[in-house]
Amino acid sequence: MPNIKALNHVAVVVADMNQALAFWRDALGMELSELRNVPAEQSQIAFLPLAGAEVELVMPTTDDSGIAKYLAKRGQGMHHLCLEVDDIAAMLAQLKAKGVRLINEEPRLADDGKRYAFIHPESTGGVLVELYQI
Ligand code: CO
Repeated sequence: MPNIKALNHVAVVVADMNQALAFWRDALGMELSELRNVPAEQSQIAFLPLAGAEVELVMPTTDDSGIAKYLAKRGQGMHHLCLEVDDIAAMLAQLKAKGVRLINEEPRLADDGKRYAFIHPESTGGVLVELYQI
C-alpha cells in the first residue's frame, strides 16, 4: 500500500510574480529557494521553504494554459496542495481503483527529477491535490 508521507507544499496562483514576491519574500521575509520556468506547464514557479513544507507561487506564462484559464476564471488565490507519497504509481492505481477522478493518470516527470500527478477537485471536495514522489 502506498503511503502519504508529508504535506510538501501549498500553491498559490499569482498574476504577477514580482508583486507576489514583494509580499512573500520581501514583506514576510521568507527565503526564495527557487524561481524557474516550467515550459511543460506553461508557468513560472517560485518556492519558499519553511521547516516542514513550502509555499509555491505559480504564475502562468501563456494565455491559454490550464493555469491561465484558472487565473482568468477565479482570480489569484489558493491553487493546490501537494502531498508527498512514497510510491506515486501505486497511489494513482489505488485512487483509480477507488473511482477517484485523476487529471494525470500516469506520473509526470519534472525537470528536477520529481514525479508528480494531479487529482481532479471533483473527487476531493473541491481542492486540487497534487501528489509528489521525491
Ligand atoms: Co505544486
